[in-house]
Amino acid sequence: MAAGKQAVWFDCDTGFDDLMALVVLAGLDQFEIAGVSTVVGNTSLENTTANTLAVVEAFGIDVPVYRGRSLPLVGQPSTIESLLGEGGMGTIGRRLPPAARRRAEPEHAVQALIDFLRSAERPALVVGTGPLTNVAEALALAPDVVGKIGRLVVMGGSTGAGNHTAAAEFNVFADPEAWAAVLRAGAPLEMFGLNLTRQVLIGPDDEARIRAVGTDLAQAVADHLGAYLRIRDRHRAAPMPLHDPCTTVSLAHPEWFELAPARVDVELAGQLTRGATVCEFRVPRRAEPNALVAVRAEGERVVGHVVDRFVEALTLLG
Ligand code: RIB
Ligand code: CA
Repeated sequence: MAAGKQAVWFDCDTGFDDLMALVVLAGLDQFEIAGVSTVVGNTSLENTTANTLAVVEAFGIDVPVYRGRSLPLVGQPSTIESLLGEGGMGTIGRRLPPAARRRAEPEHAVQALIDFLRSAERPALVVGTGPLTNVAEALALAPDVVGKIGRLVVMGGSTGAGNHTAAAEFNVFADPEAWAAVLRAGAPLEMFGLNLTRQVLIGPDDEARIRAVGTDLAQAVADHLGAYLRIRDRHRAAPMPLHDPCTTVSLAHPEWFELAPARVDVELAGQLTRGATVCEFRVPRRAEPNALVAVRAEGERVVGHVVDRFVEALTLLG
């Protein structure tokens, strides 16, 4: 680990917004990505791993990629390929080329994450942009490592309405037991939920800016973004919440976000509410806080940073 850099672990279920979050993180000089782990979520583990390998190869991100859990802690996967498109990363034309050289490491992601945390010289930073299955299993197998996590910065949950169901955000719905276990373990969770990401909207002008770089890779990224903007209506691009990059942008620009302490609980049993994150902000009067919950974002600045990073990276890659 280069001196003076903060070691960070990135756990994802690569779809398009995970891709954007990872490329932003790779461009932050003050951080060094120690490892990337994949998990079932948007799509199967096979696809999230293939998508992640395609990203690290296309963008020249030289970090090890580890395959994680292919099933949630309880039950069967709830993937959303039907919404996101083929392989969990739809396109309106071209797509990122499959990785030709990069392969996943032989070691399982959960063990690799445990090893990373145990070897960390100072409290480590973990970013999660998918279901928290890998993180929860690491904490179950090695409870000692919770003390080695300095910050756990996660896209997931909501202080209000869900997206996968009326009550639940997808990442939590896909593995609510994992979120509950991570909270129970006392991990220092920073929650970037839908209430926050809905303040951060990416739109057709941003697609045009990326497309204007003009390279084949820029066209592919713009076509993936085009599909993301058409999730709600495949005939018309519309502004969409830029979920996952809120986590990594907040590392570089915490001043663009406001977080508040809260007691967060996850509904596990509700017939209609399973996966809902119940956030009590009246702390410590009504409950002991167990998380920091992002409540406000300077959305235009966040999206501008992400698009600037892509224009810069795509221009350099040629
Ligand atoms: O609800 C949004 C989350 O679900 C994002 O992480 C997106 O990538 C999907 O996994
Ligand atoms: Ca994701």
